[in-house]
Amino acid sequence: MYMAGDAVRRTSPYARAEVLVLLPSLRRGRVSVPRWVRRLLRPSGPAPAGHRRRRHGYRAQSVGWCRVKPLVLDFYCCAGGAARGYQRAGFRVIGVDVVPRPNYCGDEFVQADALDYLKHLRNTAPARISGNPVLIHTSPPCQEANPLTRGTNRANGWGRDHVQYVPETRRLLDQIGLPYVIEQPIGSKVIRRDLMLCMDMFPLDPPRVWRHRDFELSGFEVPQPPHPKHVGRVRGWRHGVRHDGDYVAAYGSGGGKATIAEMRHALGIDWTDVREELTEAIPPAYTEHIGRAFLASRDLARVATGS
Ligand SMILES: C[S@@+](CC[C@H](N)C(=O)[O-])C[C@H]1O[C@@H](n2cnc3c(N)ncnc32)[C@H](O)[C@@H]1O
Ligand SMILES: [Zn+2]
Repeated sequence: MYMAGDAVRRTSPYARAEVLVLLPSLRRGRVSVPRWVRRLLRPSGPAPAGHRRRRHGYRAQSVGWCRVKPLVLDFYCCAGGAARGYQRAGFRVIGVDVVPRPNYCGDEFVQADALDYLKHLRNTAPARISGNPVLIHTSPPCQEANPLTRGTNRANGWGRDHVQYVPETRRLLDQIGLPYVIEQPIGSKVIRRDLMLCMDMFPLDPPRVWRHRDFELSGFEVPQPPHPKHVGRVRGWRHGVRHDGDYVAAYGSGGGKATIAEMRHALGIDWTDVREELTEAIPPAYTEHIGRAFLASRDLARVATGS
């Protein structure tokens, strides 16, 4: 099977990353760094203001100077709603999906079964996972668990053979031991709610989307933004009555549900116009919030932004 690391090993900037992402842990104080590592870190031009190399040790600021971004693995990635948020926070992102996703907006895409891939990572010692991911994001398919679309999916026969991926995904993530995120629609009850995000926490002009998501987090914490009171209704037909409102239902079609253009606007997604991909996506604002909190918790923000 093709593994992300194959590509990582072929491209030199990523090979550097394997060394560099280790350095923030050396932040407080001087450490002796082998000569071959110092050679890898040597900059090609003059050091930007505020960055300096030391004779007998190495300071973490230098990592930002080399502009190597931390890596997040994005499982069940679809077109990359989650990926784009992590990119905006300063990560590079490798996505994994079982079907081809030519619209995927992350930095690399691997077509593979997520559980097989996670098993491969589980069987690899963490320090040897190529590219040195610092975080794993997962969005297991949620058709059966999504209270909003459950009825529609049943009616269409989707989700009848639905496998509940969450328990096995979580079991493998725990065995891998890296910090992780599991995302599901609100109220799915298959994950712990460590964080809940709503698009009204990240205001955009109307039409807005009603897309609440729960997040189970392991190995780090993310501040919970206050949940604003929703004002207005979801546009569309209910029980024979058409309602107007600032919100649009970003799933299905017809009956006043969101058009593709409205979905793109409301989700903050501009790189795909495939309805299924928009329906499945989480707004990038959510993972940008999570990604920034993760980087701050690890003191990696400067590495990610290269500042
Ligand atoms: C809820 S969507 C993910 C949405 C994505 N996080 C985003 O923000 O755009 C679930 C994805 O899981 C993929 N999928 C389903 N079964 C899978 C499997 N066994 N391995 C990998 N991906 C799978 C589907 O193709 C779909 O793209
Ligand atoms: Zn809300």
